[in-house]
Amino acid sequence: MSVGSSGKITKSDKPLNTKYQNLDKSKLLEQIDDDIQELNLLKSKIKQIEDDKKAKEQQLLILDGGGGNTTDGNWKDTTNYEALKSVNYRQYRQYELAYDRVKLFYKEQHEKQTVTYNIQARINFKSKIRDKMTVWDALIKLNNLLDESDPDTELSQIDHALQTAEAIRKDNKPRWFQLVGLIHDLGKLLYYYDSKGQWDVVGDTFPVGCKYSKKIIYYEYFKLNPDYKNPLYNTKYGLYSPNCGLDNVMLSWGHDEYMYHLAKEQSCLPAEALAMIRYHSFYPWHQEGAYKYLMNDHDLKMLEAVKAFNPYDLYSKSDLKCDITELKSYYIDLIDEFFPNKIIEF
Ligand SMILES: [Fe+2]
Ligand SMILES: [Fe+2]
Repeated sequence: MSVGSSGKITKSDKPLNTKYQNLDKSKLLEQIDDDIQELNLLKSKIKQIEDDKKAKEQQLLILDGGGGNTTDGNWKDTTNYEALKSVNYRQYRQYELAYDRVKLFYKEQHEKQTVTYNIQARINFKSKIRDKMTVWDALIKLNNLLDESDPDTELSQIDHALQTAEAIRKDNKPRWFQLVGLIHDLGKLLYYYDSKGQWDVVGDTFPVGCKYSKKIIYYEYFKLNPDYKNPLYNTKYGLYSPNCGLDNVMLSWGHDEYMYHLAKEQSCLPAEALAMIRYHSFYPWHQEGAYKYLMNDHDLKMLEAVKAFNPYDLYSKSDLKCDITELKSYYIDLIDEFFPNKIIEF
């Protein structure tokens, strides 16, 4: 993607390192977040292809009586298998080449998300009220702020919020689940309050204060983080203990943590909803299976919920915009049901 002559972000083959030029900082946040989402979508598709391939191989083994040889000799050279391989190859190549800005983003995030920073961010969060407004007004505020620099934006924050919520609603999921769809990214408001950049608002999240999993995207950049060499933090458990439960683990600070703490304190959303909000960017955990040794039984149940939410977040980004005026009263009722105080302290 790059910035076209019309000023719109369009797909093109222009050098990737020019694509962020001329974007103001709020637009940049949105663009980085979109690219991270796109990257996660690509990873999810690759995983799906690999799973399908494994299932296909398994099926062939079963058909073949489990011996690994097929009647026609070498089944691995079938056309379908080659097609899958080439898709994989192309996708991995994109993954490697396409996201230089995302790499720079993760370099900064991995370097700066230290234990010290995370403790300070939580102190800042608890020590003041940044704003007071309804959840709906907060969604509008986020939308306006991110749109300020580019009224021609392709998919706004509120479109993504409503699309996610509507997709969940169409699947007849519970009302609290629909509300999660609507508010899961609302914590991006943080960008306009206390954040130091994009790196403490968006991106995949991970535990701080213990050894980084190699399943975290761009793991190698953690070598730049002072905690990487700190013996208090660089062992398997670090500050934590076996199966202590993720409630007791500090996850890197960003829009997920911020919104989770707000919702936990000011809503009556169930535990599953809070987990979906808190862990929706914790890809190393919910997609890669990392940090199982920190989980307790409660987290196992929460993992199921977070996995159920993920496809709605990833796959609901279509160009079809929702009619905000038409949907407003439905979602205001929904918000009021779970945020009884109506005016929320942000
Ligand atoms: Fe998010
Ligand atoms: Fe999202």
